[in-house]
Amino acid sequence: MRDVRPVQTRGPVLTVRRVDSYHALSVVAPGIAERFRPGQFVTVAVGGERSSMVTARPLHVHDVKSDYGGTVEFVFEATGPGLTWLAERRPRDLLDVVGPLGRPFPLPRDAVNCVLVGGGYGSAPLFSLAHTLRRRGCRVDFVLGAADAGRVFGTLTARRVAETATFTTGDGSLGVRGRVTDVLPQVIVDSRADVLYACGPMPMLRDCTAIAMKYEIPAQVAVEESMACGTGVCMTCVLPVIGDDGVTRMARACTDGPVFRGERIRFDDVGTIPYDALGAPGWKPGPDAAGTARGA
Ligand code: FES
Repeated sequence: MRDVRPVQTRGPVLTVRRVDSYHALSVVAPGIAERFRPGQFVTVAVGGERSSMVTARPLHVHDVKSDYGGTVEFVFEATGPGLTWLAERRPRDLLDVVGPLGRPFPLPRDAVNCVLVGGGYGSAPLFSLAHTLRRRGCRVDFVLGAADAGRVFGTLTARRVAETATFTTGDGSLGVRGRVTDVLPQVIVDSRADVLYACGPMPMLRDCTAIAMKYEIPAQVAVEESMACGTGVCMTCVLPVIGDDGVTRMARACTDGPVFRGERIRFDDVGTIPYDALGAPGWKPGPDAAGTARGA
């Protein structure tokens, strides 16, 4: 049986490239590459051995390849000292990487029509998903958006891989001026979409989910919550998610997610512990309550 447990590895940087407003860094990490499934992420230690930056950074995986035994490319924006340090790495520098982490995107059993929606560099994990879906015979249509053209990640690949690729920008510098959700209903109709996958900021995921529900198609969304440990220990990444039993639990984005069914996330309560969430102050257990994010 395939081993899906995450591994910790120390591997050399292969390439660091600038992609518009972002950086894409590939590292040799065979154990991670062979276990990876689309939607999962990695954490990377930053700052070097004597650094005071003790928490590793969670990063979207853009691509894995079999070269050099297995490489992993992740995408990030060089904001803050940790990610700026990462952007300054050079080939052959060594990086400590843990992964693959989290639950991947569920894949359809049949060859269905899929709309993939990405905001900013949240588009990055959708490309390995697109390749996997295409190999299964699925139709793929992309909707990618950001504030401006330089922040829409992966336009060339989206055009190459997908049946259609629609872009939106806040300033109108690429594609349609506006948000991804302005064009999404038409793309769903035109592509006869059966399922929606999305990754990006929480408001975008909320609005994509609402549109998917209106068109009665499932939405699988990958959240971008801030994370400290990435392995389910610290609870910094929790968000309220409704389980199969109707009970809200504070699910960990890093281990119960980052992919959730959109309609299960209580978007309006993200950042809070709702009074009726399991274990919240004043909460009283019902007959079906259990202590995990079961079915989230
Ligand atoms: S990041 Fe620590 S529990 Fe999720």
